[in-house]
Amino acid sequence: MRAQVTLQRLAEMKARREPIVMVTAYDYPSARTAEQAEVDMVLVGDSGAQVVLGHDSTVAVTVDEMLVLAGAVRRGVQSAFVVADLPFGSTEVSDEQAVATAIRFVKEAGADAVKLEGGGEARLSRIRAIAEAGIPVVAHVGLTPQTAVALGGLRAQGRTAESAARLVREALAVQDAGASVLVIEAVPADVAAVVLPALEIPVIGIGAGPADGQVLVLHDLLGITEGKTAAFVKRYGAIGPDMVAGVAAYAREVRGGVFPGPEHGYSATDDAIAAARAELESRSAG
Ligand code: KIV
Repeated sequence: MRAQVTLQRLAEMKARREPIVMVTAYDYPSARTAEQAEVDMVLVGDSGAQVVLGHDSTVAVTVDEMLVLAGAVRRGVQSAFVVADLPFGSTEVSDEQAVATAIRFVKEAGADAVKLEGGGEARLSRIRAIAEAGIPVVAHVGLTPQTAVALGGLRAQGRTAESAARLVREALAVQDAGASVLVIEAVPADVAAVVLPALEIPVIGIGAGPADGQVLVLHDLLGITEGKTAAFVKRYGAIGPDMVAGVAAYAREVRGGVFPGPEHGYSATDDAIAAARAELESRSAG
């Protein structure tokens, strides 16, 4: 069995320039897939709101729904470091609310760390409070889908002078606030590269060029997501069409009387069959 991935191991990987691999998972089979593929970090992303729950943004998913997903992932992962996203609305009210939510993900779902989007003043206060409660925090700056409306939509950040300066400010601030790992999403690689050398914590990129590691949404990389995906997605499989083809073949065989065949059932003794017939006959006689 692989050694447990810990924060210390992630820091060592950064120091050795050994790339950190992170992928999302939302249930037991996807967690098993990630574990067997020997990824280092598994993110129970609130992207699950879209890719497994069918919402059109991440905003709708609730803490209780995320806890179910995170618990299932935890049961499927032995060695990777499990991070649970804190969904929109579960940290916005106060530091106390954020700490209470984070504790639920650790106690009820077994998460190793929680992820929190944003690097503004209130977010820094939440990161500080959660980290002080002893729960490792993964910060997330750049494109933060929970507040995409305020950012002008799901669009790359750090492309104007003001936005690039904010990205650098926030990346450094979340580190100072106590984040253990940072995700930078949808930022020009040249802008991310400016701040990377100033960050001591491992930085995981998604659409942000080379970093200490990379993360992708499982359904995007396996080709399960329907329609257009973000420019930063690379597809490594076409599982979606394979899934449809498999279920369609099953439907064809059921409708054509091909499935089930005798090999898909159980045998019975002549006595059992005779007893079943006798039971039926006794009922129709009565
Ligand atoms: O929810 C998610 O999947 C994420 C990743 C895209 C980083 O936050």
